[in-house]
Amino acid sequence: MPEEKKRPDADKREPSGKENPGKQPARRRHKPSRPRKQEKEAKEPAAKAARKPSRKGQEIKRTVRHLADLKGKRPIVGLTAYDAIMGGLVSDAGVDFILVGDSVGTTLLGHETTIPVTMEDMVRHTAAVRRSSPQCLLVADLPFAEASMSFDRFLDSARRLMQEGGADAIKVEGGRDLADDVEKLVATGIPVLGHIGLLPQTVKAIGGYRKFGADREEAERLYTDAISLEEAGCFAIIAEMVEEEVATELAGQLIPPLIGIGSGQGCDGQILVTPDLLGMTPGPVPSFVRPYANLSEEISSALGRYVRDVRERKR
Ligand code: KIV
Repeated sequence: MPEEKKRPDADKREPSGKENPGKQPARRRHKPSRPRKQEKEAKEPAAKAARKPSRKGQEIKRTVRHLADLKGKRPIVGLTAYDAIMGGLVSDAGVDFILVGDSVGTTLLGHETTIPVTMEDMVRHTAAVRRSSPQCLLVADLPFAEASMSFDRFLDSARRLMQEGGADAIKVEGGRDLADDVEKLVATGIPVLGHIGLLPQTVKAIGGYRKFGADREEAERLYTDAISLEEAGCFAIIAEMVEEEVATELAGQLIPPLIGIGSGQGCDGQILVTPDLLGMTPGPVPSFVRPYANLSEEISSALGRYVRDVRERKR
């Protein structure tokens, strides 16, 4: 490893995926061994370029290769969308990718966590966003536990998001424990966006939302997760609520872009939950969110005025 690219734990040990020698892992652990760059490129999913003209007459930049190639050139921007209206607005704003996140559960569907979100929900919302003909990559989230039951279930759920929902790629929460299956998925031609750090689907297990990577052991685990996903062929990796210093270091180490959410400005790009950004999320939003609008207030005020006007026979 070149000296200037020393990872946080470089002087301690090589990432081996064996931090817990006493415990028997449920699955075979993906053992990261960083390949040479040429091997890495050969492993990347064959991106299917969509060559339809866009609404503005430009070529659609809907490939994972295009997204991955932005690393080192300019920050990548992602936002979530869950329906055709917001899909169109977010696409027209010029984002590089749209995520149909399972955050649809907490932002739109009234759930307290993302855990109750189902495949049916994800397929329906992904298909709605696809109908807005977004001019960017469309990524759909795998809901709770879909990746953990068996590889066949993982593959079938990813297949549904692409065939029934129209997603260009899928996202899955998890690190080294999923890496072997992610590698098989990528080998079948399914582009995969990784997700490390805070995994909202594990909120019941971890007991709440918090930052990751504050201590050295956790920083090492994040590093092993990220490298495992890189080696499995993820075209990019989301780092949610990772300590800024650790996220910045990881972004410098990884070949695929590291897209941050609440992980500081040193990542290769940023993603946010659009209703948080627009001030539409019911209840509190994460502390790292700086809303750019207060649409809840605007909507309440408009609705209130309409109700009053009808009652006063002004309409
Ligand atoms: O579901 C979602 O919206 C996400 C983002 C927070 C990255 O996973």
